[in-house]
Amino acid sequence: MEDKDLCRIGITRREVLQSSVAAAAVLAIGPLAAQSDAEAAVADVVDATVPTAHFDLNINGTRHDLTLDTRTTLLDALRNHLHLTGSKKGCDHGQCGACTVIVNGRRINSCLTLAVMHEGDEITTIEGLGTPEHLHPMQAAFVAHDGFQCGYCTPGQICSAVAVLKEIEAGIPSHVSEDIQNVAFSDNEVRERMSGNICRCAAYPNIVAAIRDVQHGEHI
Ligand code: FES
Ligand code: FES
Repeated sequence: MEDKDLCRIGITRREVLQSSVAAAAVLAIGPLAAQSDAEAAVADVVDATVPTAHFDLNINGTRHDLTLDTRTTLLDALRNHLHLTGSKKGCDHGQCGACTVIVNGRRINSCLTLAVMHEGDEITTIEGLGTPEHLHPMQAAFVAHDGFQCGYCTPGQICSAVAVLKEIEAGIPSHVSEDIQNVAFSDNEVRERMSGNICRCAAYPNIVAAIRDVQHGEHI
C-alpha cells in the first residue's frame, strides 16, 4: 500500500507497523491459548455427559456412600472405589465366576450388574465371610482340602459354595435334581451348581470335597 493510500484512510505507516507486531504476538500465543480452551471445553462436555448418581451400598454390614458413574459395575465399585479386592475380575463377561458375591442371600456375578442397582441390598463379599483369624467354615474347608492352587478363583468359589448349600437347603432344584420336590445334596448337585465358577488350576475334586465337608458338618 502506498503512503498516499494510508493517508487517504487516515492511518500512518507507524500505526500499520504497530498493529502488525501486535497481530504477530497474538498469533504466537494463540495456538496454546486455543489448545487449553479446547481441552477445557472437552473436559466440560465430558463432565456434563457422565451420568453420575449418589447412592449407598450395604456391604458386609457397613454402609458406603458413593457418587459414581451410573455405568459402574458392582465389581468395579467394590474393587476400584471401595478397595475390596477380594472379588476378582477374571473375564469381566460373566463367564468365569471369579467375581461372585452374595446379594440378599443369592450369588451373582458382580461384573454383570450395575452398582447403582443395589441400593438397599445386603451384599456379602469374601471379606465379609470370615477373617484370617476367624475363617468361615467354607474357607476353613477349602484350606483343609487344598481347594485352591493359584487362588485367583477361590473367593468366587467360596462365595458361590456358601450360597449353593443354602440353595439346596431351601429346596431350590437344579438341572440335575433327581426329585425336584425333595432336593438332596449330592456331589452331582455341587458340580452342576458350581459349574459357573471356573478354576484354571482344576482344583475341582478338592473344591467338591470341601463343600461336602461343610455340608456334612452343617456349619453354614
Ligand atoms: S469376572 Fe465376572 S464372571 Fe468372570
Ligand atoms: S485356584 Fe487357580 S484358578 Fe482356581
